[in-house]
Amino acid sequence: MTTSKRLEGIGEYYFSQKLREIDELNRQGKNIINLGIGSPDLPPHPDVIRTLREESEKPGVHAYQSYKGSPLLRKAISEWYQKWYNVDLNADTEILPLIGSKEGIMHICMTYLDKGDQVLVPNPGYPTYRSAVKLAGGKCIDYNLKEKNKYEPDFSSLAKKNLSRVKLMFVNYPQMPTGQAPTKELFEKIVSFGKENNILIVHDNPYSFILNETPMSLLSVEGAKDRVIELNSLSKSHNMAGWRVGMLCGAKERIDEVLRFKSNMDSGMFLPVQLAAAKALTLGKEWQDEVNRTYKERRTKVFEMLDLLKCKYSRQQVGLFVWAKAPAGYKSGFELSDEILYKANVFITPGGIFGNAGDKYIRVSLCGSVEKFEEAKTRIQHSKA
Ligand SMILES: Cc1ncc(COP(=O)(O)O)c(C=O)c1O
Repeated sequence: MTTSKRLEGIGEYYFSQKLREIDELNRQGKNIINLGIGSPDLPPHPDVIRTLREESEKPGVHAYQSYKGSPLLRKAISEWYQKWYNVDLNADTEILPLIGSKEGIMHICMTYLDKGDQVLVPNPGYPTYRSAVKLAGGKCIDYNLKEKNKYEPDFSSLAKKNLSRVKLMFVNYPQMPTGQAPTKELFEKIVSFGKENNILIVHDNPYSFILNETPMSLLSVEGAKDRVIELNSLSKSHNMAGWRVGMLCGAKERIDEVLRFKSNMDSGMFLPVQLAAAKALTLGKEWQDEVNRTYKERRTKVFEMLDLLKCKYSRQQVGLFVWAKAPAGYKSGFELSDEILYKANVFITPGGIFGNAGDKYIRVSLCGSVEKFEEAKTRIQHSKA
């Protein structure tokens, strides 16, 4: 069979390929420590699991659900946005629950892009923005995020480009993979840029609670709803990556537009999952603090490991990963990553998979126990002896 033209240039997702190689190395008895993927290993709160169990046992919960999600989940999302981000969202019209935020990226591209429409994507950035734009027939225009600019877009050089065909811009702060936290000034600049250039800004915000004291929403900027839609997720903030619960927030018109596409793709989410997610969203600061205590302890170990590798990194970064620059002796983060994989049996993500602006870097996930990081450190130490 020939595959569709739209799949041309779309490779298999990097991790899906790399995990096969790691499986093969494990079959050879290598017992690879995988510090690659950001899938939280900690469990959700026990009340969330209890809600899922209790709700699943009730009659009448197994049918198809509303395309717009349960009103109870939308109300919980609205209250969560108010409590943590100080953003008012109408629970009936301005919130669309998603089966994880990743699907939202595709829905947004399919909703707004025609062939040849351009989209600004961060380099380095989450690879899914790029593939979703291409699958929808759009064209990616990279904007580079540089360490010396605190990984903020260079708006003055962007303004010099011809932006007349740009319809969307993906932004993501706390930024993955660089761990850069947002500032109010940066958020204001992004919204102004969207307004001045008639570009719909898509803010992807799954990391605002991880090792970050001040969660922020781009929708909190005055007048943002005119030009901004925001994706959010329970995957990282509530240790629920496999549950697939995310959301899209924004003006009613945008939500209706995306729903026109999405309602043709799926038939709602299992109600007990939605109710358990609503429960998760009521958890207080104690929950976030507890999760972050664990990540902080792990991050200390990761810093020690990176010191062993002579990598340079910022201690101010936030989110679920640590982003670090490979020492000068390495051509790229790919070379360093391969060396650690084959000599120390530890897998660390090369930064170049997030775009060529990440070529010199590596990214370490905090989703592993302190013991795992200790073991990784020991292996790296031995491999260098
Ligand atoms: C920047 C970014 N956006 C979105 C996602 C997808 O999250 P979800 O599990 O909500 O689909 C990820 C997952 O790793 C991510 O890193």
